[in-house]
Amino acid sequence: MNLNRSPLLQVIDLNVDFKSEGKTTAILKEISFVLEKGETLGIVGESGSGKTITVQSILNLIPTPPLSGISGKILFKDTDLLNCSQTQLRSIRGKEIAYIFQEPMTALNPVLSIGDQIMEMIRTHESTGRKSAFQKAVSLLEEVGIPSPEQRMKNFPHELSGGMRQRAMIAMALSCNPEILLADEPTTALDVTIQAQVLELFKELKQTRGTSIIFVTHDLGVIAEIADKLMVLRQGMIIEEGPLDQIFKSPQQEYTRELISLLGGE
Ligand SMILES: Nc1ncnc2c1ncn2[C@@H]1O[C@H](COP(=O)(O)OP(=O)(O)OP(=O)(O)O)[C@@H](O)[C@H]1O
Ligand SMILES: [Mg+2]
Repeated sequence: MNLNRSPLLQVIDLNVDFKSEGKTTAILKEISFVLEKGETLGIVGESGSGKTITVQSILNLIPTPPLSGISGKILFKDTDLLNCSQTQLRSIRGKEIAYIFQEPMTALNPVLSIGDQIMEMIRTHESTGRKSAFQKAVSLLEEVGIPSPEQRMKNFPHELSGGMRQRAMIAMALSCNPEILLADEPTTALDVTIQAQVLELFKELKQTRGTSIIFVTHDLGVIAEIADKLMVLRQGMIIEEGPLDQIFKSPQQEYTRELISLLGGE
C-alpha cells in the first residue's frame, strides 16, 4: 500500500450521539472507512442501523436536536468537515460532495419547476448566465434519461413519476459535477424496471465521470451490481467490511451470511 497517497474521503472514529428526553444514545460507534477516487462504497444494514446518519454526518446535515455529540474526523482531501467553517462547508456541499436524499419529495421544492431548481443549483455554485444554466440543466436531464427534457424543465415535482423525480434529483446532484455522490437508497422507492435503469445510470457515471459514490441500501442485490467494496452496519457499528467479491465469497459474520442467503433465496 502506498502510504503517501491520501484518499479522497477518510472517516476516522466517527461517533454520533443523540439525546432525547434527557437520555443520550450512541447512534454511531467508531465508524472508520475510506473512499478513493472513482470508487463505489456500498453501505448495507437493516433499518435503523445508522446508514443515513453515517452519510448525513459527512455533510453536517443532522439537526441539533436530536444530535447531541459528534466526534472523530471526516477528511475530504485536507479539510476536516467536522471542524470547518459553515462557509467552507456550504461551498463543498452540492459542489464537491452532493447528496441524493432517501425520499425525493422531501428534497425537491414543490412550488418550483424542476428546471428552475436545477438552474438555481447551478447558479449557486457557478457564475453563469440564465441561458447557459438552462442549457446545462436540459443536457443534465437528458443525461439522466428524461425524455423531452426541454418540456420537462417546466414541470413541477408532482407532475413527474417517481422514477422521473428520482432522476431529476440525480440530475440536480450532478449539476456541479461533484467528486463524491452520496446516494441514500436512491432506488428503493422505484419499481424493479426503473430501479434497474437508475442503477445503469450510476454505473455510467462511474465510468464516464469517474465519480466516487457512497451507495446506501438495505438491498444486497443492488449493491452487488454497483459497489467495489462493502461496509455492513449493525446497531451503529461496522460489523464487516472489505472488497465486494471477498465478502460475497467468504462473509466473516453470521449476519452478513444471512443477508447473502436472503439474496440467494429471491
Ligand atoms: N430524528 C431522529 N430522532 C431520533 N432518533 C433518530 C432520528 N433519526 C434517526 N434516529 C435513530 O438513529 C438510528 C439510525 O438511523 P438511520 O436513519 O441512520 O437508519 P438507517 O440505517 O438509515 O435506516 P433505514 O434503512 O430505515 O433508512 C436509528 O436507531 C434511528 O431510530
Ligand atoms: Mg436511511
